[in-house]
Parts: sequence; structure tokens; C-alpha cells
Amino acid sequence: MSEHAPEIDDPEVGAILQSVSVRLAKSAPTRSYCTLHDTLDSRDELQDIRRHIHQHPELAFSEVHTAELVASKLEGWGYTVTRGVGGTGVVGTLRAGTGLRSIGIRADMDALPIQERSGLPYASMHEGKMHACGHDGHTAVLLGAARQLARTRHFSGTVHLIFQPAEEVGAGGGAERMLADGLFERFPCDAVFGLHNHPGVEAGTFMFRSGPFMAACDTVAITIRGKGGHAARPHQSIDPILVAGSLVMALQSVVARSVDPNETAVVTIGTLHAGHAPNVIPDSARMELSVRSFSPDVRASMEARIRKLAVSHAEGYGAAAEIEYVRGYPVLVNSEAETEFARQVAEELVGPERAIANFPRIAGSEDFAYFLQQRPGCFVRMGNGANQPLLHNARYDFNDDNLTVGAAYWTRLVERYLAA
Ligand code: NI
Repeated sequence: MSEHAPEIDDPEVGAILQSVSVRLAKSAPTRSYCTLHDTLDSRDELQDIRRHIHQHPELAFSEVHTAELVASKLEGWGYTVTRGVGGTGVVGTLRAGTGLRSIGIRADMDALPIQERSGLPYASMHEGKMHACGHDGHTAVLLGAARQLARTRHFSGTVHLIFQPAEEVGAGGGAERMLADGLFERFPCDAVFGLHNHPGVEAGTFMFRSGPFMAACDTVAITIRGKGGHAARPHQSIDPILVAGSLVMALQSVVARSVDPNETAVVTIGTLHAGHAPNVIPDSARMELSVRSFSPDVRASMEARIRKLAVSHAEGYGAAAEIEYVRGYPVLVNSEAETEFARQVAEELVGPERAIANFPRIAGSEDFAYFLQQRPGCFVRMGNGANQPLLHNARYDFNDDNLTVGAAYWTRLVERYLAA
């Protein structure tokens, strides 16, 4: 009660008011939305699911067993399930109440072509395949939310749980396939959300950034065609190794001299191959580049500069350049309102110190970016443990402490977005 509240002189009125306030306090709900406590009882079940998927990793567009496991769980909990969306994708739909709003939550399901060296009792049983990016965990977390939403149905509207194949392929991945298969026409979503674990930050911590958050990633292969010959007679050859070496240096000028210093970009030359013998000038040299950027303008200008440098450079030495420029996933851009909403939900759930705003940009790429080109939404990062191996490492493992936390987060986010 405020200190300015009038004193009640009449003891009878005071007693009535007191009894009314006691009754109101008793009838008021003790909580409105999902808390961390509410999903704790599903820990064992989610851990079993996660470790089962971890033992049976499936590569991009081959997630047959994983997709069937997801679909059968969803059906068991009362979802309307659509299989085969964009290949091996699955969408589970649940409606409650009379609300007209709808929301999509996405998890990726595919593994990587890596030989696991974690030594864990539930390590991959399939040679050369491994869940080294935690997509087994993302899938289990979203199933945890599916279970919780189905048993409480504490929302009014439609939720579409999107289980996506093939995030790891770099270009032509599962997000594009699902969109081409009419994802948002068949399953309309007012907004869409996704999540990725993040080693190096404590488990149970959520990180957010509005605007460009993850990089566009393009891959370039440049072949320099020269003229092979004897090492002792260089004047009768066109040495592609000299051209390649010079081009390596020239490509460093793309970011240094062509990109606004306020922007962020990367040009990495990851491979350079030429020649077989010390006394032979080879015919050709080949290099492969990874090009990353956070704005469409920077992306386009880097492509133009790289093409021009390669062609003119080769010409200057009398050689020729062949360029394969493959545009991978675009910049991932989180919309402002949905990012702030997602951050608020995390703050309510885990407290302000574990809901980090303005997390630094990440130079990795994500095909959830395609969903965000078509719908507002937010891609969230969730700490996987401070001292855990990095993503795509042969000793990586998803942190099971995140299973019920992540499930509670998605549940609460849906309940808040589709508040009755
Ligand atoms: Ni990943």
C-alpha cells in the first residue's frame, strides 16, 4: 500500500476491504507463463531424445530417421504433422483458443561429415558423421517446447514448429528448400524465431542483437590459367604461381581499401594449389576464398572487386582467370521489435544478467537468414558452457543443461507472443 493511501477509520469497512484483498490474492494466478521449473520434469526424456539423435547423426537432406522420430513424437502429443516439407523437413502445428496470430519456431536437424572424438558413451555410431554443431540439441529443445505447449496449451493462436533439414551445406540448404516448398504459404507465421548454441558462454545464457547479426558467406574458386614449361626456361612459359602469389597479396586490399572502416568484412584465402615438381612450371594454379560481410552493399562491392582484381591481374601477366563465385547464405538480420521481445522473454525467464543485448556480430553464417528475409523475427544464441569445445570440433557436445531451459524459453516465448 502506498504511504499516501487514506487511513480507514471504520473498523467494519477495514475488515471488509481486508477480506476482499485476501480473496483477490488467493484467486490471482501465482504465475502466468512458463518458468524454468515447469519443464524440469522432462529432463530425462529430452536427454534420451537428444542422445539418441546424437548417436544416429544424419547428413543434410538425409535426416530420415531424425525426421520420423520428430514427427512421431509430435503426433503423440496431438500435433498436426506435415512430413516431407522441403525434403526431409517436418512441421508440427498446434492451435489453441480463438487467437488469429501465428508464430513459427525453427530447429535444424542435420549433422556434419566429421569423425567424432568425444569419447562419450553416446558418441556417434556412424563412421564419419557427427552432431558437432548441436543440431541434435536444437531439435530436442524444440521437442521439449512442443511437449510443454501441448500439455498446457496456455496460448491463443497457432504455433508452427519447423524442423528444418540441411543447414550445414553453405548454399542451397534446407531453409531455401522449405521456402520453395511453400513453407510460409502453407504454414503462415506472423513472426519466426530460431536458436543456436554458443560455446564459450555459460549455459542458460541468451544472447541477442538487433539488425545484422551473422555474416553472409560466399565461396570463390579462382583458377589461373598460364602456360606450363621447363623451370630453366621461364621466358617460354606463363607462370601461374607468380600470378597466384601476386593475387594473394592484391586480394588483401579488398577489405583494407574498398570497405568502409565502419563495416565488417573478411576475405580469407583458404586453399592455394599449384604444381607437382620443383623443376616444372605448371599450367595452372587454383585458390579458394571465403568471403564474409554484414551488408548487401559490401557483399556486392567485394564480389565486384574480387572479380576485377583476378581478371585484370591475370591479364597483366599474360594469363587468364576463371572465377566460380558461389553466393552462400545471406546476412542474417534480426528485426528490432521481435529481438527486443525475445530478449524480454529471456530476461523474465533467466534474469537480466543472463539475457545479453547487443551481443557482438558473428562471422559465421546461417540459413535461418532466408526465413528472416520473409518474416520478422529473431535468431537467438544460447551459451553452451564457458569451457566447451567449439562448434564443428570433433570433441564438441551439446550441453544437456540447456534442454529444459531452452524448452521453457520457447514455451514462454510462444505463450507471450500468443497471449490469450
Ligand atoms: Ni549449426
